[in-house]
Amino acid sequence: MKRRDFLEYTGLGAIGAAATLTGCSEEQPAVKFWQNGNFRPVSEEVTLTDLKVEGVIPPELSGLYVRNGTNSSSGVSDHFFGGDGMLHGVRLEAGKATWYRNRYVDTPVYRKETGGFGAPKAEDTTSAVSLIYHGGKLMSLGEFGYPYLIDPKDLSTLGVFNYDGQLTGNMTAHPRIDPDTGELVFFGYNVMAPYLTYMRADAAGNMLQVEPVDMTGPSMVHDFGVTENYVVFMEMQVRFSWLAAIAGSGLPFKWDDDAPCRFGVMPRTGTNADVKWFDVPSCFVFHIMNSFEQGDEVIVDAARYDQLWVKNSHDFFHPARLSRFSMNMKTGKASVDRIYDSAMEFPQVNRALWTKPYRYGYSLVVDEKNDAPERIEQAEGGIRKYDLHTGAVDSYLPGVAITPGEAVFIPASDAATGEDEGYLASFLYDKNAQTSAFALFDATRVFAGPIAKVELPVRVPVGFHGVWIPDSAMG
Ligand SMILES: [Fe+2]
Repeated sequence: MKRRDFLEYTGLGAIGAAATLTGCSEEQPAVKFWQNGNFRPVSEEVTLTDLKVEGVIPPELSGLYVRNGTNSSSGVSDHFFGGDGMLHGVRLEAGKATWYRNRYVDTPVYRKETGGFGAPKAEDTTSAVSLIYHGGKLMSLGEFGYPYLIDPKDLSTLGVFNYDGQLTGNMTAHPRIDPDTGELVFFGYNVMAPYLTYMRADAAGNMLQVEPVDMTGPSMVHDFGVTENYVVFMEMQVRFSWLAAIAGSGLPFKWDDDAPCRFGVMPRTGTNADVKWFDVPSCFVFHIMNSFEQGDEVIVDAARYDQLWVKNSHDFFHPARLSRFSMNMKTGKASVDRIYDSAMEFPQVNRALWTKPYRYGYSLVVDEKNDAPERIEQAEGGIRKYDLHTGAVDSYLPGVAITPGEAVFIPASDAATGEDEGYLASFLYDKNAQTSAFALFDATRVFAGPIAKVELPVRVPVGFHGVWIPDSAMG
């Protein structure tokens, strides 16, 4: 979402206008990393059907992998998160990749129909963060604003979706589907009260509950924990800031040393009055790997930053480390333990294990030597699998020339019962060729590299989150 649109949507347009009038402007970063290398947007929407495959696509995989990310239609944006939503999809069928498409999410922001400072409208989102398939609908999610419905046949935008008017504001880009009931568990947050609203929808997509939750103020809440019986809300120290809002660059959020840092645990069918808050050490979390219950404890495994966005919302260069937050419902005390020492982000699991105890997690490897925007092009990334029972890791480390994106677990089949019996799907960027590939890895042998690579003659820019939708789920 562009800053102007964010301010408009949140009803804070007057602040932006005041900033313009007073000429107040925050220092832009010297290197806008999101406009360089494979962060820079692509200029065309393409449909490719004659795709070369290296290796073997498991013939039993039939479905769509699709990933969201920002891709500014003007070519420039004033923040990494600031471009229009663009979807990149690959369809697999009978051992073949039958097409690749990239398509903008067709929103009023993309069509440039929003301008000036008007009334807040939840349609005015870039819808650029993630996707989820639920209730027979493929939804593009942008964290701010309503979901947009996408046609899985061609990635075209079908229109906005707001649960028959029952979704009254924002929807997180990180909802969870209960693997047993099919229920969608989600929330939205805002910079004005109510700061957070909890929601549930049944397997068919009918809203079951809309519950405002008290927070101490407007905090950035990108993700949340969902277990079989509880949800966990994270109120942390990246907060909405009036000073950042008038500063004129990036998003109106920044680190606040004085803000509380606490996790609120609520029964999934409970109310605001039932929330138990646990103080945790100062931190920020974008992403949770998984959450579950163990004895008296509610466990949240997450990519934990000691600090983030300290100077402003361009300040990304801090390492996140996989950490376990344990909230004891009997004692009211929380503890935090480091699970693995090396930096990581974009944690994933086999989604059949969402809400449940689990053994295997997956993430991107983050290069700690590349701790500034000037050095991001030299980053050596990778994909890491964690065995949480033994502490062992299994890593794909392709070196500086190849950069993977988020790795999404695909079960080998609907009958697969082994937790890691399946594949990891990711887009790989080849820096030398300046092209990308859609890759599948055997999730039991990540180190071995892709078992299949669908070579794309185009670039898939660095993006955010994807989803695999098997044909069996689409019906
Ligand atoms: Fe995210």
